[in-house]
Amino acid sequence: MINIRLYFTHYDVESELDLKDKNVVIIDVLRTSTTMITGLANGAKEIIPTEDAASAGTIGRNSEGQSLLCGERNGKIIEGFNLGNSVREYTADKVANKNLIFCTTNGTPALMKSKFARNCFVLSFANMKRVVDYLYKMHEDFIILCSGRNGEFSLEDTVCAGMLIYMLEKKNAGDEFSLTDAARGALKLYSSYKKNLLEMLNESEHGKYLVGLSFGDDLVECAKVDTCSCLPVMRNGVIKLIESFESDPKLTMKKVAQSNTK
Ligand code: MLT
Repeated sequence: MINIRLYFTHYDVESELDLKDKNVVIIDVLRTSTTMITGLANGAKEIIPTEDAASAGTIGRNSEGQSLLCGERNGKIIEGFNLGNSVREYTADKVANKNLIFCTTNGTPALMKSKFARNCFVLSFANMKRVVDYLYKMHEDFIILCSGRNGEFSLEDTVCAGMLIYMLEKKNAGDEFSLTDAARGALKLYSSYKKNLLEMLNESEHGKYLVGLSFGDDLVECAKVDTCSCLPVMRNGVIKLIESFESDPKLTMKKVAQSNTK
């Protein structure tokens, strides 16, 4: 039996210790997860989530020009940063071989809450199949942490979580998953929106806010399913494609053993 828990917002995680040694899936559809996945798919070396813009600036200054300061506050690029949080900014010519130092309103705080997690995966609609396949093979309990929006329920993050659960259950016809009410609610919510994810994003509070800032094109990008097969994983506060870690000699034997079973 695999137990799936879900938090609707990172505010519901009172302490990082609540996620210690857990498998955690982080979702921030609009737009941090989708932007990070896009950046890594386009060749960024790694992503470092930070608490605030000042910390991002300090890390950036100490990394010999190989870094870009990335992120937003209330949807708009942070003054002095290289990139905002618009998916379309993260093209290969800008991010390839760069370290992306990230600071966003809800996405990076959710990641920071997961710093003691055993495994921390970044999910959006863009890499859904890859995450489903990996979690299916991993065959362990996991927690879905929706970033939410300033402590409020996020329609888009919860629908994405519901899609993850739906795809896992579809892959395994048995009754192998035990869902909390929050997880079951997400699954049911997905069934209401699965036919038109872009419509769902346009109905969402944050989607409407972004359209108001002329970021409507980002909703189109963030609604796309399986546009890449990359699997970003955070270890020791750094997010990389999982393949980068598996070639890492410091990887624990258990993780090596796991990766060898894929
Ligand atoms: C967030 O972190 O809250 C979002 O990604 C903000 C945004 O990019 O609009």
